[in-house]
Amino acid sequence: MEKNLEQINTAALKELDAADKTKKVKELSIKYLGRKGELTLFLRNISQLPPEERPKAGQRANQIKKELEVRFDNKIKQLKRGALAVKDEIDVSLPGRTQEPGTLHPITRITREICDIFISMGFDIVEGPEVETDYYNFEALNFQKDHPARDMQDTFYVSDNIVLRTHTSPTQPRVMEKQDPPVRIIAPGKVYRCDSDLTHTPMFHQVEGLLVDKNVSFGDLKGTLTTFIHRMFGSKTMLRFRPSYFPFTEPSAEVDISCVMCHGKGCRICSKTGWLEILGSGMVHPAVLENVNYDTSRYTGFAFGMGVDRIAMLKYGIDDIRKYFENDFRFLSQF
Ligand code: DAH
Repeated sequence: MEKNLEQINTAALKELDAADKTKKVKELSIKYLGRKGELTLFLRNISQLPPEERPKAGQRANQIKKELEVRFDNKIKQLKRGALAVKDEIDVSLPGRTQEPGTLHPITRITREICDIFISMGFDIVEGPEVETDYYNFEALNFQKDHPARDMQDTFYVSDNIVLRTHTSPTQPRVMEKQDPPVRIIAPGKVYRCDSDLTHTPMFHQVEGLLVDKNVSFGDLKGTLTTFIHRMFGSKTMLRFRPSYFPFTEPSAEVDISCVMCHGKGCRICSKTGWLEILGSGMVHPAVLENVNYDTSRYTGFAFGMGVDRIAMLKYGIDDIRKYFENDFRFLSQF
């Protein structure tokens, strides 16, 4: 045998160490362990050794064979892992993934703005349920069973006596039932009507206001709403109280403001009228006060209600109400 066993082993290990490709390792494996490999030939020719050397040489050759097999295998694994690592290497020229900060939804912002103005005038914030009884949504507010004004509201009925509230006004009797005057509350929340187009969604937002005390007059209503509108839209904004009808107020008025876009000149937003209808209001109807056992000879009050979605549209110049609910981050992050 030309090369002795230890020389074969040393040479194999040296070559393996230098191998830097899996292909090379496979070649080495053939060179040493293949059918005509050096180690294989050594084992095959072992009978040529003197008999006393054969058992030891055989044992050693098999041991080296096993060790080499394991080393070749490990080296291949190691090289493959290295190749993967190179593929996954961080590309420092890639733009980073930034974490965008969240923003408040425009409806939330406007609701808070409205509430803050009234809080500064001494009103408390209350909330009522969105699934409401017919009694609070209608009866207690002086809409009798067959009252035609019920048709104005496109009500979603849950059952005969349960509705999705069509307005935030039911918070009025709910609060008054539990509390004696003076009452001074603001009730923001979601309301529901079976209606959907460019300016209406089946769910929208209102803010209700109620004030009941001794000697409350229509002048107090006008003063309170004028202060609110001036704070909300600027002190140059004009107000117009237009006679209207609601079952739960008498007298009732709708409030228009001079158009926030054209300031009264007339434009597309105000349909060339110069005015925008912004809220409903009035003096609380005595029947409503009687329903909650208030003494109508001692107490009077005013109430008002406004649509938050519409106010936000006007304030931010949004033309399609559906944009509020699409959750397009580019839209939402403008505010
Ligand atoms: N609840 C009415 C609606 O949704 C708005 C409203 C009008 C509320 C007059 C009031 C009010 O408190 O006095 O159309």
